[in-house]
Amino acid sequence: MPRVIAITSEKGGVGKSTLAVHLSGALTGRGLPTVLIDEDGRVGSSLRWGARAEAGLGFPVLAPDDVKPRKLAAAAAVVIDTEGRPRRKELRRLSERADLILVPSGVGALELDATRELLDFLLDSGDASRKIRVVLTRVPPVGHAGEDAREELRDEGLTVCNTLIRHYAAYQKAAELGALVRDVRDVRAQAAWNDILSLSRELL
Ligand SMILES: Nc1ncnc2c1ncn2[C@@H]1O[C@H](COP(=O)(O)OP(=O)(O)OP(=O)(O)O)[C@@H](O)[C@H]1O
Ligand SMILES: [Mg+2]
Repeated sequence: MPRVIAITSEKGGVGKSTLAVHLSGALTGRGLPTVLIDEDGRVGSSLRWGARAEAGLGFPVLAPDDVKPRKLAAAAAVVIDTEGRPRRKELRRLSERADLILVPSGVGALELDATRELLDFLLDSGDASRKIRVVLTRVPPVGHAGEDAREELRDEGLTVCNTLIRHYAAYQKAAELGALVRDVRDVRAQAAWNDILSLSRELL
C-alpha cells in the first residue's frame, strides 16, 4: 500500500500546491514512484501545473475522478493536494484516509494562529494526532523567523518538521513554467530544491 500524504491548511495560499508538486517530484526522483491527486476542484493548481509541463513532471497528476486502483498499484506514495480552509467534515474524512497530514504554515503571527486553530481541531479527533506534522513554508531565507516559529510550536507540543521551506522566487518561476524548481534557471533554484529533498527524507 502506498503511503498517503495529505496536504491541508487553514489559510489559502500558504504553498500547499507548491509543496504537493515538489514533494511528489522529490519522492519520485528518489526512486519512490508517487502519484499526485489534486482534490482542489476550485483552483486545481496542481493539475494545471502538470498541464503546463510540456514533457510532464515525471509523475502523474490526477483529478479525483481519474484515480483508479491500477494507477496507484506501483506507487510508493500518494500525495493529496487539497483546498484551503477545509470544512471540518472533510478534514475528518481526509485524516481517516491519510497516513500523514502535512500542514504548511507561514511564520507570521496570524498564520501561526490559523495553524494552531486547525491543529486544535485535528488533535481533538483522537487517532489523527499521531499523523499531523506542521511544515513551515515561505520562510524568509535571512534571519531566524523560521527557527523561532519552529521552536515556539514545538514548545506548545506540536510536531514540526525540521526542514524549513524557504521563500524563493524560483518557485514562482517553476509554477509559471510548469516545471520543478530543480529545473528552473535561477541562482537559488538548488537551495530551494535542497529544502524539498530534505523534507522528502523526513517524510519517507
Ligand atoms: N517556498 C515558496 N517560496 C516562494 N513562493 C512560494 C513558496 N511556496 C509558495 N509560493 C508562492 O505562493 C503562492 C501560493 O502558493 P500555492 O498556490 O502553492 O499555495 P496554496 O496553498 O496551494 O494556495 P490555495 O489555497 O489557493 O490552493 C504562489 O504564487 C507560489 O508560487
Ligand atoms: Mg493550491
